[in-house]
Amino acid sequence: MVILAIETSCDETAASVTSERRVLGNAVYSQVLIHKKWGGVVPSLAKRAHEERIDFVIEEALRKFALTNKILAGPAATFPPASARKKLRAVGSPSSRVTHQNFINATTSYIDHIAVTYGPGLAIALEVGINKAKELAIRYNKKVIPVNHMEGHIYSCFTQNSRGNPKRPFRFPYLTLLVSGGHTELVLFKDHITYQILGETVDDAAGEALDKAAKMLGLGYPGGPVIERLSQEVKNKDFYLLPRPMIQSKDLNFSFSGLKTSLFYLLKKKGKEKARRHIRELASSFQEAVFDSIVKKTETAIRQTGINRIVVGGGVSANYNLRTRLRALTEKYRGSVIFPPYPYLCGDNAAMVGVAAYYRAKKGQFLKNLGRLDRVPRLRLGESK
Ligand code: KG4
Ligand code: ZN
Repeated sequence: MVILAIETSCDETAASVTSERRVLGNAVYSQVLIHKKWGGVVPSLAKRAHEERIDFVIEEALRKFALTNKILAGPAATFPPASARKKLRAVGSPSSRVTHQNFINATTSYIDHIAVTYGPGLAIALEVGINKAKELAIRYNKKVIPVNHMEGHIYSCFTQNSRGNPKRPFRFPYLTLLVSGGHTELVLFKDHITYQILGETVDDAAGEALDKAAKMLGLGYPGGPVIERLSQEVKNKDFYLLPRPMIQSKDLNFSFSGLKTSLFYLLKKKGKEKARRHIRELASSFQEAVFDSIVKKTETAIRQTGINRIVVGGGVSANYNLRTRLRALTEKYRGSVIFPPYPYLCGDNAAMVGVAAYYRAKKGQFLKNLGRLDRVPRLRLGESK
């Protein structure tokens, strides 16, 4: 089953072609440079950039699919057939004079279904992907599979390359830790497309907290990667010992806004000059406080559920320090932890959407009425279309 997936929930315009768990063509256009000067994502600019790029990104994913994934192993070995491969190579060649439309027509004939993120995310950004999915579904007579962005982040851990590696069989249930710019959640992943939220942030998400701290420290957007870099340069990573909100509570909820306030007052007390001199220690201490909360709550979840197999998704999962700590935690409980392939499927992408869509399709979860497909900006895991 070959799926063309589209993802436009935030500031990445993404498209991909997947077959079951295999990523056959992946394209992401990051809008970071557009939003950087505003210190965060500006929805109207995101929408415009998605509109300007979506066709180009879809075409790129289709081209990669056509050109680089000629041979598939396993049951799909005959796909695409040799004759079709030749045709695809001809139309896919950048030097060919075949028009954009001819190329799309030729490649979409090998696509079975179209998947699209319908929430959670920025309403006007989600709309761009949804409208494109509808347009393609009508023109090429395909069924649409609506996907939750966060379930995409979960399935990003189970993606495979075009040869079907890594094998990594599913061993349900999993405890899932989702750490992105918009969400911080602990989720019970009971079976395919079956989730139960165990705990979540009551205010800011982990990535959002890192982004806001970076802004306060004058480090620009996005904050996570630059804070990670600076923290790698200090010996005493937890110099300022910032508070760990809710770390002692027995529930599985997170809170990061108090931590942000603590940083604000610390910076005020220090003054600009001193803060600049201690920027590494400040960034690192903030990151330590955020990750301590995350790791401690994950440990509480392991103890409460008895599940020691952890799946981690979302942009913050790219962080080496967090990965190391979660590895140590699962070793302590004789369990295992899986992360998305680094770095290309940690942040937002459409491959994860295509893989989640495959498991939805296996359950027959296709959209019944195209006209009723609408964005759900606050969509939660477990609420299905
Ligand atoms: O999943 P994602 O790409 O988009 C959302 O769905 O929100 O996550 C983006 C978040 C941002 O807050 C960014 O600062 C954070 O992921 N992030 C990181 C790292 N790379 C991205 N946080 C910590 N360390 C990183 N290396
Ligand atoms: Zn995301």
